[in-house]
Amino acid sequence: MATATLGPTDMLVGNPSILIAEDDLATRALLRATLERGSYLVREFDNGADALDDIEQRPPDLVLLDIGMPGLNGIEVTQRLRSRPATALLPVILVTARGRTEDKVAGLDAGASDFVTKPFEPVELLARVRANLRLSTALNRLEATQDVLVALANAVDAKDPATEHHCDRVAGRALAFARIAGLSGEELEAVGYGAVLHDIGKIGIREEVLLKPGALTDAERTEMQRHPLVGAEILRPLRLGRLIGPIVRAHHERWDGRGYPDGLQGDGIPFGARIVGIVDAHDAMTHDRPYRPGMTEEAALGELLRHRATQFDPWLIDLYVANLERIAIEALHPSDALTRGLLPTHEADA
Ligand SMILES: [Fe+2]
Repeated sequence: MATATLGPTDMLVGNPSILIAEDDLATRALLRATLERGSYLVREFDNGADALDDIEQRPPDLVLLDIGMPGLNGIEVTQRLRSRPATALLPVILVTARGRTEDKVAGLDAGASDFVTKPFEPVELLARVRANLRLSTALNRLEATQDVLVALANAVDAKDPATEHHCDRVAGRALAFARIAGLSGEELEAVGYGAVLHDIGKIGIREEVLLKPGALTDAERTEMQRHPLVGAEILRPLRLGRLIGPIVRAHHERWDGRGYPDGLQGDGIPFGARIVGIVDAHDAMTHDRPYRPGMTEEAALGELLRHRATQFDPWLIDLYVANLERIAIEALHPSDALTRGLLPTHEADA
């Protein structure tokens, strides 16, 4: 039976809330008293099922779960929390009995963030709660940063309706292509972000230039060609900027050195930028622009090959053309782990 009671500190604004699920009355009372001394807002339950329901209704900032509860135990509750996107990152501290190594192993496998051993030291409990809340705040900030980046990329898309969903499409294909080209881990992730954000610098380009239906004047072209530099500058302060800045900056460089903004040549162009450059050019060719209609797939293929070793890395363009179908299929199903927060929308258009 639930014994959800709210403590006197509930009226405080901004204090983190903690949910306790523990069937032993004495331990539960001690946990509550200790946490309230730390000015946390506490709510408590004597079983896992009610705790899980309550967490779903109003997610707390941290959860303390007893492993040995009847019914749904702490490990099962942890597993369920981890399987749901809304609570996948919620800090979960398991309360275990001393010496139960197998409990700790099962808890870690289920995705617990930390452990407190009974009988616990109040100072240690409070220290662990503080540490886990700090980590959780940092993770949330990181996620918020990713959301902001994606929102910015979508803002660029929205500024130019003719290129709507261009960034999403390029990201899906660039990730599939980068995998085929042998990238993994951080480098692969950088290509994903670089592809989503490659044109983010267009946010700084005047709309009359960005949306001009006819040919650009020299001055307008110079302004337009600043977008890779502006983009790299926007991303520079971010932790991810170190990885994706070079891709964004170099996505219009050409294999023969006649690209912009730095006139880099051949292997001097970052590998990820060469990948994004190919996918970006292909997508642009096959979609309408204010100044011309989109090409057929066949015509685009011919165009890509015509610029082999002048605009594009010859090895990469051969690999791209040989795997076009596979890339198109895999771009529709990017792996969840890689694209969490990265490709949130328009999967059907990818
Ligand atoms: Fe661009």
